[in-house]
Amino acid sequence: MVGVPAIVIVGLQFGDEGKGKISYLLCRDADCVVRFQGGANAGHTVVVDGRKFKFNMLPAGSMAGATACIASGTVVDLEEVFEELEILRSAGIKSGFMISRAANIVLPIHKELDAKIEEARGGKAVGTTRRGIGPTYSDRALRTGIRIEDLLDEERLREKLEILRKMHSSGVDSLEKLLEYGRRLSPYIGDVEIFVNDLLDRGGKVVFEGAQGTLLDIDHGTYPYVTSSNTIAGAACTGCGIGPTRINEVVGVMKAYTTRVGAGVFPTEIGGELGERIREAGQEYGTTTGRPRRVGWLDIPLLRYAIRISDVSWIALTKLDVLSGLEKLKICIGYEVDGRRLELAPPSVRLLENVKPIYVELDGWGRLSEEEWRRIAERGWDSMPDEARAYVEFVEEKLGKPIKLVSIGAEVGMEVER
Ligand code: IMP
Repeated sequence: MVGVPAIVIVGLQFGDEGKGKISYLLCRDADCVVRFQGGANAGHTVVVDGRKFKFNMLPAGSMAGATACIASGTVVDLEEVFEELEILRSAGIKSGFMISRAANIVLPIHKELDAKIEEARGGKAVGTTRRGIGPTYSDRALRTGIRIEDLLDEERLREKLEILRKMHSSGVDSLEKLLEYGRRLSPYIGDVEIFVNDLLDRGGKVVFEGAQGTLLDIDHGTYPYVTSSNTIAGAACTGCGIGPTRINEVVGVMKAYTTRVGAGVFPTEIGGELGERIREAGQEYGTTTGRPRRVGWLDIPLLRYAIRISDVSWIALTKLDVLSGLEKLKICIGYEVDGRRLELAPPSVRLLENVKPIYVELDGWGRLSEEEWRRIAERGWDSMPDEARAYVEFVEEKLGKPIKLVSIGAEVGMEVER
């Protein structure tokens, strides 16, 4: 993991790939870490020195001391921001913080609408986190959104709230409350985009911490069962105002199996007892909502697609330890659909609903104690069980990109480099 200047971290599946820990590792020598899309729907966790820290709004990499930035492409839950700044402070982390004046804020009305729209969909509900993400992005697109900088301008804020009140019957914050937020936030409000560009000009290292995953991208995912932002690597450019040629590396984070929280197509889903067993082993419950995640085998056609559209440089594979103790491990290496075979699949819902996954079966490895995994983390890749190495090598060969980092436990330190 050489410290190149501008690194984008993206999830290659349906989110929850373990980006928080990878971001922390890559931020240890970074100057700045940026959230550029999404909002408090994300749940990025870092476990360091036996303590667990959970972030929804701030980039998890800030735990490593890099200056935390929230850029204009995000939708901001202000209460979360204040709470998470407190988490950093009480952990003794002295990272700086800057929030873009251009980011849109989530209001109570957006959360209410999120729930209402979900209820209206009935059986076709997306299964959103109900954090108001979709409605806030739609107000942004309608140009009726409230931006961070508006909190500092009473007249402007009053006018904007008036429009929102005419649009919505309830749930619009009071002017006073928002102005108070503005006062509390004012030392941190800035031009994140200029700050980041200047930092890169001076040879600084910046990590762009993506949230959610490629298959939840609003344009390139399994629409309509997606989130409301772009989650691919290119979103770092639009979400933080940096030119595409600035990006040196794209790190794709993937889990050793697949999970999905919320509704939507899932070709390799595992039901029954086995699914339950993996869910328990991996503690696959939503960080933000506590919902049980759906579990499935690794899906190479979807991963190939995700790697392609973000032009991933290398891969960090997480939660390999969770698969321990399973006798056989399946990997979907292609799809069969209408008599055709697909090696790479765009996540069209219509297509994916009709595919038949083609599986290969690999040998599993025995259950290892936490102590044994710890020893592997100390000794490195060669001390990994043969079958675990064969699994990673097989995936690497199928994806055609190097898997440079393998995480074998939630805690920082429980990983091996290759
Ligand atoms: P929303 O982003 O809350 O609108 O939810 C839309 C879809 O994205 C739902 O299926 C959510 O479960 C999913 N989603 C949103 N954020 C995350 C995340 O950070 N990890 C995993 N799934 C997410």
